[in-house]
Amino acid sequence: MSLWSDFLQNDQRLIHKWTHYFPIYEAHFGRFVNRPIVFIEIGCGEGGSLQLWKRYLGPFAQIVGIDIAPHAKAFEEDQIAVRIGDQRDTEFLRGVLDEFGAPDVLLDDGSHVMADVTASFEFLYPRIAPGGVYIVEDLHTAYWDEFGGGLRRDGSFIERCKSLIDHLNADHARGQIAPTEFTRTTLSMHFYDSVVVFERGRYIKKHAPQIGTKE
Ligand SMILES: C[S@@+](CC[C@H](N)C(=O)[O-])C[C@H]1O[C@@H](n2cnc3c(N)ncnc32)[C@H](O)[C@@H]1O
Repeated sequence: MSLWSDFLQNDQRLIHKWTHYFPIYEAHFGRFVNRPIVFIEIGCGEGGSLQLWKRYLGPFAQIVGIDIAPHAKAFEEDQIAVRIGDQRDTEFLRGVLDEFGAPDVLLDDGSHVMADVTASFEFLYPRIAPGGVYIVEDLHTAYWDEFGGGLRRDGSFIERCKSLIDHLNADHARGQIAPTEFTRTTLSMHFYDSVVVFERGRYIKKHAPQIGTKE
């Protein structure tokens, strides 16, 4: 069953997702189905999305929910663990990674406050497993004052992403910007309405050979 069909037929815990996110999830999470992965979602809500990921990813996935609200602990079940803490608290996040290992997928659906999104990203992104995915959703808040956002406002996560595009391309910037760990470990960045996806990998060599015969 597709993730979309599963969502539409859900009669377990409540899920709260924008509909246009489902093709994004399927595009970036499909390769993890039936793999023994660690999938962390920041923001458990009513617990339904944790169950959705479990059904979609299959029997080998470890789903970990992070939430600041203590009642989220009740969402634990086979394959689903929940840890209570603030997504801005890097010592708490370190403890979660020490316990479960490097996440293959990190989905940030937490507070959507710019300072929180940025703090989680700066700590967690370098710790994502090679080949893993980091996805931040509901980034319409990057344009909303009450979440610390605003068009071209310093501290907005969308502004951070814009500068990371330069780091992604730093190998070609003729010294104008030095390659960073982000350059070396990021394969791609994907921008959608309200969602940014980072795919990690490790480039060994970037070259552009010409192959074939010329008339
Ligand atoms: C939008 S809801 C999550 C919805 C859920 N993922 C779903 O798809 O149904 C946001 C959640 O983030 C949690 N949250 C808010 N601030 C947080 C913070 N600073 N750290 C961790 N979780 C936080 C809230 O308690 C709430 O459960």
